[in-house]
Amino acid sequence: MKLTIALLPGDGIGPEVIHQAVKILDAISEKYNHTFEYKKADVGAIAIDKTGNPLPDETLEICSSADAILFGAIGDPKYDKDHNATIRPEQGLLRLRKELDLYANIRPVISYDYLIHKSNLKKEIVEGTDFIIYRELTGGIYFGEKKFSEDGKEAIDTCKYTASEIDRIAHLAFKAAKSRRKKLTLIDKANVLVTSRLWRKRVKEISKSYPGVQLNFLYANTAAMQLILKPTQFDVILTENMFGDILSDAASVISGSIGLLASASIGKKTALFEPIHGSYPKAKGKNFANPLAAVLSAAMLLEHFQLIDEAEDIKNAVEKSIELNITTPDLNSTNHFSTTNVGNFLRDFILDDENTFYNKNNIDLGQSTII
Ligand code: IPM
Ligand code: MN
Repeated sequence: MKLTIALLPGDGIGPEVIHQAVKILDAISEKYNHTFEYKKADVGAIAIDKTGNPLPDETLEICSSADAILFGAIGDPKYDKDHNATIRPEQGLLRLRKELDLYANIRPVISYDYLIHKSNLKKEIVEGTDFIIYRELTGGIYFGEKKFSEDGKEAIDTCKYTASEIDRIAHLAFKAAKSRRKKLTLIDKANVLVTSRLWRKRVKEISKSYPGVQLNFLYANTAAMQLILKPTQFDVILTENMFGDILSDAASVISGSIGLLASASIGKKTALFEPIHGSYPKAKGKNFANPLAAVLSAAMLLEHFQLIDEAEDIKNAVEKSIELNITTPDLNSTNHFSTTNVGNFLRDFILDDENTFYNKNNIDLGQSTII
């Protein structure tokens, strides 16, 4: 298969984790004879520094014409300190989502057996967690009308949803539930918000077309508790933009590290794949950021194009690295490996066959992991 992939490494640790993800995609294309053509473009703080615009026209152009986009991370602390900054790196990502109509953000959350001890939650609670969050991504309070009064004493964010915005992601979530454990939970705040009541109405209606799927409702505050108390009760979670943002970060605690969670943002034409972690400025350039979320995002990209065996290879390699403890310090505080070491191990594992022996000393030296 031939694919054109727009690469948007972005800020902070974005470039170093995307570098590893590309290494893995290259290993896959070598093994399966695919052609992946990459087109690199700037977004976020780095784009502001170069052009004054967090999403330059050229970047948007490259993304619109690509088959898929692989995105690193966005954000720089210098903008967090300045509350008056009108141009912010995050606007680059938000505009990209809106312009490309990437309305469905899909975030799988699973527990890895070998990492259960890393979770802050008890083993019995975490074990067997396997759910997927469908977060609406181009509507709600993120994109509603905003006002900031001239005297600086009043500010307004508007939360707006239309039936069609709800319906299109609801169908995707129901289809996912149908192919999984057939349980969909709509998370909202229907006791307070009128937009949530519209969500309930539409989703109830749509559920009639998916008779095999059990539909449940949960208020966002209760959901936050339930995610931590009993994550195994969830199969597919459907929710609006802001609740999805908050709940997916809460859910990331379950896996033991936010450095593991990948995501796909699907639109009508193109799709974007990105780790859910941020730009982690303190780790920038230090070669210890966890590349697994970026690598797993690349696996989601392949799955999107039905390259199932290829994606499976990546997931197996990731599981192996976790099993062998060939991981960055967030997962392994004693005998840890660098971002590059982890990427090299994954590449070698994909390219070599199962009978390979691994030499940890070689990994330490940054040499081939295979003897
Ligand atoms: C995410 C991020 C973004 C969001 C930020 C960077 C604007 O937190 O992708 O979850 O809030 O959607
Ligand atoms: Mn977020």
